[in-house]
Amino acid sequence: MKILLNSTRFANTFYHKTGTGFPLLLVHGFAEDSTIFNHQVSALQQGYTLIIPDIPGSGDSALPPEPMSMELIADFIHEIIEQEGYGKVILAGHSMGGYATLAFVERYPAQLLGWGLLHSTAYADDEAKKENRRKSINLIKNDGKDVFLKAMVPNLYSEQSKVQIPHELAQHLTTALKITSESLIAYYHAMILRPHRTNLFTCNNLPVLFVIGNEDNAVPYMNMLTQSTLPAKSFVVLLEGVGHTGMLESPQKVNVALNKFCQWVLQQ
Ligand code: MLT
Repeated sequence: MKILLNSTRFANTFYHKTGTGFPLLLVHGFAEDSTIFNHQVSALQQGYTLIIPDIPGSGDSALPPEPMSMELIADFIHEIIEQEGYGKVILAGHSMGGYATLAFVERYPAQLLGWGLLHSTAYADDEAKKENRRKSINLIKNDGKDVFLKAMVPNLYSEQSKVQIPHELAQHLTTALKITSESLIAYYHAMILRPHRTNLFTCNNLPVLFVIGNEDNAVPYMNMLTQSTLPAKSFVVLLEGVGHTGMLESPQKVNVALNKFCQWVLQQ
């Protein structure tokens, strides 16, 4: 079911609600929308209430007038949780959705029973990454977003996945091409500005899920493995032959990882 968020700050924004059980919120990444989690919805809706937003500026959700930031997306997620009347949830984000998840952990830890990073990192961008993002912003402005996205999206998949699931990649690109240049540029500025947040792994006792692809070109898997040693309670899944998009490249394993993590969290 697609639901309008009743919000003045986030006008014309939406999330999807499916299934029954403890609330599990999944936050999509850059150049994606809620459909990136379609395989997770079909597998997990029997056991959980899945809440999957289109973050502001993606999918059916409008870009808000105030500057984009990971904290803004965290506040948006918070409004969804308030609207649904949930006390606590489990929250996991893919890549940029993971950066927003980290901002949420910082602002609203009391609303979490556990949280997860799917191909994401608590490290801030280094100078080289910031420079690459600035180049991408210029490419979008000068050559158009289609040129940028057609080069970027395939890079989110392992070589093996490009051959084995070309239809998923093509659908991902179709979704990405619907997002406006204004949104893409706003997300890049927000990612450049996001701080280092590794302190969040140790500042509370919340269990943390790490889903890692050993062929991830966007978030080096060694970075994630290193970070996975920091929390007191880590649940780590390393996916072989997978790039940056395990939800599509290895859906069964990601579904099992999410389910086992949630069961573990709910038993704490
Ligand atoms: C994403 O998938 O959300 C992006 O690759 C994140 C990033 O560029 O850091």
